Amino acid sequence: MAGKKVTGWAARDSSAILSPYSFHLRKTGPEDVLLKVLYCGVDHTDLHLIRNEVHPATYPLVPGHEVVGKVVEVGSEVNKFHIGDIVGVGCMVGSCGECVCCKTNKEQYCTKMVFTYNAIYKDGSFTQGGFASAMVVHQNYIVNIPENLAPEQAAPLLCAGVTAYSPLKQFIDSKKPIRAGILGLGGVGHLGVLIAKAMGHHVTVISSSNKKREEALSHLGADCFLVSSNPAEMEKARNSLDYILDTVPVSHPLPDYLSLLGVEGKIFVVGAVPEPLQFNASGLILGKKTISGSFIGSIQDTQEILDFWVDKGLKTMIEVVKMDYVNKAFERMEKNDVRYRFVLDVTGSNLE
Ligand SMILES: NC(=O)c1ccc[n+]([C@@H]2O[C@H](COP(=O)([O-])OP(=O)(O)OC[C@H]3O[C@@H](n4cnc5c(N)ncnc54)[C@H](OP(=O)(O)O)[C@@H]3O)[C@@H](O)[C@H]2O)c1
Ligand SMILES: [Zn+2]
Ligand SMILES: [Zn+2]
Repeated sequence: MAGKKVTGWAARDSSAILSPYSFHLRKTGPEDVLLKVLYCGVDHTDLHLIRNEVHPATYPLVPGHEVVGKVVEVGSEVNKFHIGDIVGVGCMVGSCGECVCCKTNKEQYCTKMVFTYNAIYKDGSFTQGGFASAMVVHQNYIVNIPENLAPEQAAPLLCAGVTAYSPLKQFIDSKKPIRAGILGLGGVGHLGVLIAKAMGHHVTVISSSNKKREEALSHLGADCFLVSSNPAEMEKARNSLDYILDTVPVSHPLPDYLSLLGVEGKIFVVGAVPEPLQFNASGLILGKKTISGSFIGSIQDTQEILDFWVDKGLKTMIEVVKMDYVNKAFERMEKNDVRYRFVLDVTGSNLE
């Protein structure tokens, strides 16, 4: 049975222009939480998805998966949250709860994982995201926003932050600092720099131009800045890194970046490049290098990055805008013209 009627902003086709759209949420079930959306981050994945670039899109499609909201109703069996709590929802709103992934805090890899939007929920309803006035989410896929973290600050951590944190987490207690490279200084990348620095590592930003050099070194605290289109700089940096977080959303030459890794170095590809990426076998063999993927993080990882953020006193760099700016925000994101994440002020946009 249909629940509350809400207004969101939806894409109607792959031209990916968003406009207001009314739809019904599912009814708040016994273990569900109804939340009023306060803020929602704008991730490059939203752009890939509304354009039908990486997964088949079903329209109308309401994106948004860095959602901070206020609990306004709870089901009869909800024991983790109360009315008035400030909470977060990221990329997933369901999984089977029974498989090895689900039982070992890796539910983001469950084959039955349900995406926050553009997916079919267990009851057959279609999921819609956080570019909307409200959402209904099962309590197991919700995290607590710490009291001393501003809700708009928290939003980018719910996808971009945990995506950078999850692969870096293995080095959290490393006695020896690693030489970390962050490839692409955007939403995910800027959080990667802050997280790696807060863990005590040596951080090199690898960027497509010189434009962000000053900001990377002085505002974000990176140790080195490398321009990928400068062959002399790239040559000088050969074999200088242990780890690279690759956040580039478009096709790019992996061999150039593999050459930056030392022996047993690892590159984590998180950018959802729509086309196949290529590399030479010898580029991996000589140096025993690894190419790995990584998808967001678990619900536990998401709670951890929020707590880590507060503990380390970190600050996301965001530009807060209203919903009627969202099409412009996507346009600017694509032109690499945002420092470093747009966050939609959903409540302030008076959608209802
Ligand atoms: N695996 C996951 O779980 C996960 C989670 C979140 C996002 N993602 C994906 O990660 C990617 C990045 O997301 P985001 O939100 O951080 O995007 P973003 O804010 O647009 O940042 C991407 C960065 O990549 C670099 N870049 C952009 N266009 C480029 C080009 N033509 N050539 C070389 N570099 C370019 C830019 O950095 P410079 O100016 O420094 O070059 C840009 O700031 C997207 O593909 C997104 O779908 C994956
Ligand atoms: Zn599962
Ligand atoms: Zn995302």
